[in-house]
Order: sequence, then structure tokens, then C-alpha cells
Amino acid sequence: METMKLLVTGAGGMLGQSLSACLESRGHDVVSVPKERLDVTNYSQCLEVIEEEAPDLIIHCGAFTKVDQAESEPALAYHINGYGTENLAVACNIFETPMLYFSSDYVFDGEQNQPYNPWDATRPLSVYGKSKLAGEKAIQRHLSRFYIVRTSWLYGPNGKNFVDTILSMADDRKTLRVVSDQIGTPTCTLSLSETVSDLIMTGRWGIYHGTDDGVTSWYDFAKEILRDRDNEIIPIATKDMPRPATRPKYSVLDKTTLINTIGRELPPWQESLNTYMQLHTGRKETAKK
Ligand SMILES: NC(=O)c1ccc[n+]([C@@H]2O[C@H](COP(=O)([O-])OP(=O)(O)OC[C@H]3O[C@@H](n4cnc5c(N)ncnc54)[C@H](OP(=O)(O)O)[C@@H]3O)[C@@H](O)[C@H]2O)c1
Repeated sequence: METMKLLVTGAGGMLGQSLSACLESRGHDVVSVPKERLDVTNYSQCLEVIEEEAPDLIIHCGAFTKVDQAESEPALAYHINGYGTENLAVACNIFETPMLYFSSDYVFDGEQNQPYNPWDATRPLSVYGKSKLAGEKAIQRHLSRFYIVRTSWLYGPNGKNFVDTILSMADDRKTLRVVSDQIGTPTCTLSLSETVSDLIMTGRWGIYHGTDDGVTSWYDFAKEILRDRDNEIIPIATKDMPRPATRPKYSVLDKTTLINTIGRELPPWQESLNTYMQLHTGRKETAKK
């Protein structure tokens, strides 16, 4: 099988760690660069690192991902997700290096009420969503060889995430209140890493939607996480738990283009959750399919 030299940015993050490990397990030469070595807001550093490493493909996992904080620090979110991604794209253009960029379901407004295709109109509701869209546009302006992978509701080892938060809250209190009127798809970084590892072997550039399979709410997701425990989970409306950033109420992504491209189905979110719970939470509980 063909292998490549791959440079992963934001390699200290949740997805960056899982993806680097997955790519290495497939025999690729993976250069995992944390923010300390490559800060994408530093254009000269982008040029230096690409020149020095000469990768076949850059996989850009680095991002400002604090969705609520972005509302009070918009300049920082755009600086990293917009201008930072543009710096990397310009540098990639100079060295004729293709790039894979992760984007988000939050580029959509959630009003469509049916799964979004990659070509559907974007209308982000939050600063984070707008800044991720700015990164998408920068890539399309500067590169002809790129993958944009929009994903959603990520959790996985080595990162602050919803699954771990729910498990820890369930240890501390009997009753949990969880939002039931936001619909989407939880996605494990472990399965997304396998999906992306397949995609990069195709050379079929473009915009893809890559999540696990299925549809749920945060409330039903929490119920599945705690299915073997006796906590009480109360569904609440988004309006009863106001947060700085507005989230789309329905952000399910249609994965048909990706499935056709990699030639296989994506795992149901319950299956990925089960694997994560068994391997990474150190718990006995299992989420059944
Ligand atoms: N998490 C989700 O639910 C979700 C959903 C949809 C899409 N995504 C996208 O998926 C990708 C990976 O997300 P994640 O959950 O793995 O996020 P994460 O755990 O927050 O990792 C992001 C990494 O990027 C680094 N970073 C921050 N500023 C940087 C800069 N200027 N230059 C280079 N690296 C920088 C961070 O370092 P520090 O921590 O030191 O700042 C961190 O290591 C991101 O593009 C994100 O937008 C995530």
C-alpha cells in the first residue's frame, strides 16, 4: 500500500492525537507538530516548517475550538481559524502541498431540518462557525488540491469532551439536565481518524461531510452514555440553558459523498461510543447498539 509523509498541525489536540496514531498505524511517515512548533498565525513558521519537512499532505487539526469563548474573543477565533488557516494555505500553495482542513457542522444554521449536503448553503450562527467558514474559504481561494472535512460533536481520548463530562457529572450528582432540542451526530475521533485515513488515499479532492452514522439529541446521547447507571436525566430546552454561542438546532450532515468516495459505510454513533467507553473511560458500562 502506498504511504505518504503527512504533517499534522494541532497535534496536541484531541483529534490531532488520535489521527496521528491512526496514520502511523497505517505505515505513514507522520510528523505531528503541536502549536509550540507550528503556530499557524505565524506565517514565517508555516513556510519554514513546510520547507523543512516537505510533506506530501498537511492535515490541519489546529484550531480555536472554544465555541462559547469565541463570542467574547472573536478577534482571536478569526485570527487562528481564519487568518491562521489562510497562512497555511498560502504556504501550501507556494510549496504545491495539498491540505486537509477540518471544519464543522456549525457552518450551517440548522433551519433545514434534513441532513445537510456538502453543497448546501452555509449560514453560521456563531463566531466559531463563521471563523471555521472563513478557513474553508481561504483554502478554496489558495488551493486547488484540498480536502475539507466537516465533522460534528467530537469526543475521544485525550480531550475535554461531552462523554467524559457526562460520566464525571454522573459521579457527582444523581440528576442531570441535558438539552434535548439540538439534533446532530456524535462522532468519535477514533472512527473519524479511520475515515480520514481512507479518504486521503483517494486523491479525490473536495468538500466532505464526515461524522459517525445516525441522528440523536444531546439528551439521548447522554442517556446512551449512562444507560447502565441509575442517574435521572431530565430533558431541557436550549432556551432554559442559555449559552453565549447560538448552536444550530439541527446539524445532521449527509455523508453520501464521503461514503461513495471511500467505498464503505460509516459506523453507527452507538457502536463508536461503545468502543470508546470500553477502551478509554476505564468503565465497565457498555453502550448497546
Ligand atoms: N471538538 C468538536 O466537537 C469539533 C466539531 C467539529 C469540528 N471540529 C474541528 O476539528 C478539529 C480538531 O478539533 P479538536 O476537538 O481536536 O480540538 P482541540 O482538542 O481543541 O485541538 C485543537 C488544537 O489546536 C491547537 N491550536 C490552537 N491554536 C493554534 C494555532 N494558532 N496554531 C496551531 N495549533 C493551534 C490547540 O492547542 P492549545 O490547546 O494549546 O491551544 C490544540 O492542540 C478543529 O478544526 C475543530 O474546529 C471539532
